Amino acid sequence: MAAKILCVAGARPNFMKIAPLLAAFREAKNFEARLVHTGQHYDEKLSKIFFEELAIPRPHVQLEVGSGSHAQQTAEIMRRFEAVLEDEQPQAVLVVGDVNSTIACALVAAKYRLRESFQSSVGERTRPFVIHVEAGLRSHDNDMPEEINRKLVDAISDFLFISDPIGVELLAKENISDPARVHFVGNVMIDTLLGAKEKAAQSTIRDEFGIKDRAYGVVTLHRPSNVDNAENLRGILETLDQVASQVQLVFPVHPRTKSKLAAMGMTFEESRWKLVEPCGYIDFLDLTANAAVVLTDSGGIQEETTVLGVPCITLRENTERPCTITHGTNTLTGTDPAAIFAAVKLALEGRVPKRIPPLWDGKSAERIRDILDAVFA
Ligand code: UD1
Repeated sequence: MAAKILCVAGARPNFMKIAPLLAAFREAKNFEARLVHTGQHYDEKLSKIFFEELAIPRPHVQLEVGSGSHAQQTAEIMRRFEAVLEDEQPQAVLVVGDVNSTIACALVAAKYRLRESFQSSVGERTRPFVIHVEAGLRSHDNDMPEEINRKLVDAISDFLFISDPIGVELLAKENISDPARVHFVGNVMIDTLLGAKEKAAQSTIRDEFGIKDRAYGVVTLHRPSNVDNAENLRGILETLDQVASQVQLVFPVHPRTKSKLAAMGMTFEESRWKLVEPCGYIDFLDLTANAAVVLTDSGGIQEETTVLGVPCITLRENTERPCTITHGTNTLTGTDPAAIFAAVKLALEGRVPKRIPPLWDGKSAERIRDILDAVFA
């Protein structure tokens, strides 16, 4: 009998991670993978476009939870996901990343008792396996909601698939070290990026924006620590405005940031800035691949720029993805203007080394599938 795996995705950064996993499971007859979309992100630009561009199959189940406070959103996903487990009786629940959908579904699955037990390589199971893809990331900053999600999900996961080589060490410090449980497999998001590069090269977005290769930078900002406080956000944008006087900045504005900017009444000089709606995956990949520099507080973009060999300046005090600094193109500046200007100078002078972390080779989803195959065989 094929093992039924419920694969969970809910927010924008989940979709590019779930796509290669669903494709890998589809190729193997031993799995019946079903997608559950929690609806944490629901806008066309944050959700639907990724399904179309990455050929993600229509979700088997849509929970349609929408936005809310952390507690409301997490609780609502948990409540609705429990009913899905009741109907589906899966042998495994696979979650990716560190968003509220990730912890909500992992927590429900970890405590759920199936109506019928099943056999696996680790013996008889009465609960679905919890599988965490992108385990072992730590920013060591509990002010970041995602850090809480990461630690909790890793603590209750049966299988932890690691993308950043240092994750093995970090998990060992939390007493998660059983080699049957912890596997360094590389980065599934890079599977998607490498698969989409050719399509991105045909994007017309740079023509539409009237920008020339390597003559612009890309900005993204959405972390609550950077955008929720108007004073912080204004300070960052004033610093970036000075960068924009050297290199025009394209700024796809996240909904969280958009509502803050509207309330602050910020204006942007058109010759220096291009404010646009959030981009789809393919257009954004083309934009970043051809940028002179990317300034961001995102997690995933630190990884994507590393593989693209484009300098990335991370506007945060810490990163949960240290290999993008040690093995990639990333520099951590926080929001300190002097640090940002120094990093921009290095980037524009082409003095940032290009390196790629181990196993970020486009085959991570296959590795995960093969490891799981042995568990259910
Ligand atoms: C969430 C994730 C974050 C991830 C980010 C990527 C958590 C804790 N945070 O943050 O890790 O980096 O997604 O985007 O899970 N909104 C819309 N349309 C949507 C969804 C949200 O307009 O489709 C607006 C709503 O006003 C909402 C706000 O954006 O209140 C924030 O959305 P939410 O999902 O709570 O968090 P993000 O900031 O997107």
